[in-house]
Amino acid sequence: MNTILITGANGQLGNEIRALSSQFSIFNFLFTDYEELDIRNYDAVESFFLNQTIDYIVNCAAYTNVDKAETDYENALNINSNAVKHLASVSKKRNIPLIHISTDYVFDGNQDFPYKETDRVNPSSAYGKTKLLGEIEASKAYKCIIIRTSWLYSSFGHNFVKTMIRLGSEKNEINVVSDQTGSPTYAKDLAEGILNILIKSTSDSYGFKEGIYHFSNEGSCSWYEFALEIMKNKNLNCKVNPIQTIDYPTPAKRPKYSLLDKTKFKTSFNFEIRNWKEAFLDCLNEIK
Ligand SMILES: NC(=O)c1ccc[n+]([C@@H]2O[C@H](COP(=O)([O-])OP(=O)(O)OC[C@H]3O[C@@H](n4cnc5c(N)ncnc54)[C@H](OP(=O)(O)O)[C@@H]3O)[C@@H](O)[C@H]2O)c1
Repeated sequence: MNTILITGANGQLGNEIRALSSQFSIFNFLFTDYEELDIRNYDAVESFFLNQTIDYIVNCAAYTNVDKAETDYENALNINSNAVKHLASVSKKRNIPLIHISTDYVFDGNQDFPYKETDRVNPSSAYGKTKLLGEIEASKAYKCIIIRTSWLYSSFGHNFVKTMIRLGSEKNEINVVSDQTGSPTYAKDLAEGILNILIKSTSDSYGFKEGIYHFSNEGSCSWYEFALEIMKNKNLNCKVNPIQTIDYPTPAKRPKYSLLDKTKFKTSFNFEIRNWKEAFLDCLNEIK
């Protein structure tokens, strides 16, 4: 039985993999977060691998506070890049394939058609820069799959959906930016995509298809349109006003456009991806 190490397992994506894990009893999962395995600590990473046989690493650990990263760059870099170097190093030493998660924020958002894996990266935020450096570190692993995703939400953890539900029940009116376009991604769908890769990778004929891949739910919207969908489906009587990014200044600059072209993921792994609206309704059923 293959053993899969999940780092950062208490986050949105890690929790979704945990929730699905009982359906994948062909794998033995090791779920770890800070307490069990702080990936910033190389000695801790080394000794963790000394003590058990691990066949695949899925790195869900990250520093994801995009605005805070602007003034807390060292900590963001430490988790998003230096710690990834530790995982890549142990992967190389022990011949363990690594699946690493990255972000649409590696792009500047100046394009107006979906980003392919080969498109030029040019992060405009500190978070995006640390994640890009993390990709470079991850690519030094024994074998590596990097999955860039966007606008992640889940019934676990903090995210836009939960913030909108809270604001929608507290306020009569809110302003949400309408000039940033992307694809909301239900972390459960990404978790299923990752587990599908692991299933295929463990079949002899398929192998571990190294490379960079893009994954988000299908379709696109602005944050404003996403907020409208949330209010409508939660029956919240809160007026949503569209505003421009310039009228909602944040410490970190966000890409204006961050649609990801998923063709490579879908064809390489023979995997169908749901539209964001369908996935979102599924998530709402999970949010109490
Ligand atoms: N969230 C998004 O909108 C978004 C969009 C695009 C890409 N991504 C990427 O998708 C991946 C998953 O994101 P997510 O939303 O699931 O993140 P998340 O909810 O913030 O979860 C990350 C987890 O990693 C843990 N962690 C942080 N530093 C660690 C360390 N040194 N050792 C072990 N664990 C550590 C965090 O603990 P603490 O919470 O205690 O810090 C948290 O439990 C990340 O690579 C992220 O960059 C996210």
